[in-house]
Amino acid sequence: MTKILVVEDSATQAEELRLILEEEEFAVTAAFNAEQALERLGAESFDLVISDIIMPGMTGYELCRQLKASPAHKRVPIILLTTLSNPMDVIQGLESGADHFLTKPYEAADLVARVNNILETHRLRNGGLQDANEIVFLGRRFAITSDKEQILSLLVSTFEDTVRKNRQLQQSQAELAETLEKLKEANQELEAFSYSVSHDLRAPLRSILGFSQALQRSYPEGLDGRAYLDRICGAAHRMSELIDDLLKLSQVTRAELNFRPVDLSELAREVVEELRARDSESQRQVQVTIQDRLICHGDESLLRVVMENLLGNAWKFTRDVQPADIRLEARQEGGQRVFQLRDNGAGFDPDYASKLFAPFQRLHRADEFPGTGIGLAIVGRIIHRHNGRIYAEGAVNRGATIHFSLSPATLNLTT
Ligand SMILES: Nc1ncnc2c1ncn2[C@@H]1O[C@H](COP(=O)(O)OP(=O)(O)OP(=O)(O)O)[C@@H](O)[C@H]1O
Ligand SMILES: [Mg+2]
Repeated sequence: MTKILVVEDSATQAEELRLILEEEEFAVTAAFNAEQALERLGAESFDLVISDIIMPGMTGYELCRQLKASPAHKRVPIILLTTLSNPMDVIQGLESGADHFLTKPYEAADLVARVNNILETHRLRNGGLQDANEIVFLGRRFAITSDKEQILSLLVSTFEDTVRKNRQLQQSQAELAETLEKLKEANQELEAFSYSVSHDLRAPLRSILGFSQALQRSYPEGLDGRAYLDRICGAAHRMSELIDDLLKLSQVTRAELNFRPVDLSELAREVVEELRARDSESQRQVQVTIQDRLICHGDESLLRVVMENLLGNAWKFTRDVQPADIRLEARQEGGQRVFQLRDNGAGFDPDYASKLFAPFQRLHRADEFPGTGIGLAIVGRIIHRHNGRIYAEGAVNRGATIHFSLSPATLNLTT
């Protein structure tokens, strides 16, 4: 029976090796360090040694060196287990006289094939050691005493491992590309599905709303059942708003981007004018400060949607503050331009800051501040489509600041 000595400090790995080899009818003895291995080798003879390199005490290289220097053991082939993360491993393996390398993690089938191969080659060769060949690697001198076949088979085993690793790498790359493709398709399908569902829901909803309104008109207030009718109308209205919001969200993801220089300052001023006009009846004082020439590169119509939502929020959530103060400016951070919109309004609990960009997440009650919670989700998607980042900062009753950047490639052209 062929006898193999396994030198491995990890008990689990030693056991794994034993199981694989015993399955193939080899007789396996385990040593947990190099010193123990030398003792075993002194007591009985083995046909092959498989040794880990890094172990407490003597390393696998040193064990190899000692065995190859000993007349009694120099013919026993040695496989070193390595992670082969460094070409120095190969040189040190050669210098120590190792016969083969096996890179970890290995497949059981590879290990068995390698072991059989080595035993066969070894039987064929007569195993005499040659004079030392000197090589210099990375400025260090190494004396290689292994014979030609030994060097060749060590290099071949290294090469085989590299080829195997490369094949695995290529395979996982191909799998990754396939998964990505599937993911894209699934995403498109999902997008198309939510679009058509929301679209198709509109028609039946319109008739519910239309007929309930007709009933409302025909039956005066105070009549039996009229309160229920009002509720039906209110709920149908709300549902119709939700569907419109969902459609807006999916349109933002589907829209083609048309990149060009955009003046955010000008966009913001136009939006503020609209907000003032819409709110002209109220006695509110709103101070708006917009830094000049905030030029960026992006899709103008989508960036307008960003400004409408962010300024719309700032306007809405400063309703109870006199005077309201809203500022849009930019700062330089890590070579990137970061825009920030700050207000002195109701603010929010900072613990929930990251939730605000998910659809329908609101931190204020609708009867306090109206809205469905879709605005920031839309803004978030637009910024991501510009490869930018966005986050919110705030504290209850101390205002809110939304920070956002656009991708470095789409950064400001002029400052
Ligand atoms: N400037 C702000 N100040 C305080 N809270 C804010 C501010 N902007 C956003 N929020 C909080 O984030 C939530 C989500 O904002 P988002 O714009 O998505 O929704 P909304 O304004 O409530 O509704 P919609 O924009 O759909 O009309 C808001 O409900 C609010 O709780
Ligand atoms: Mg909003």
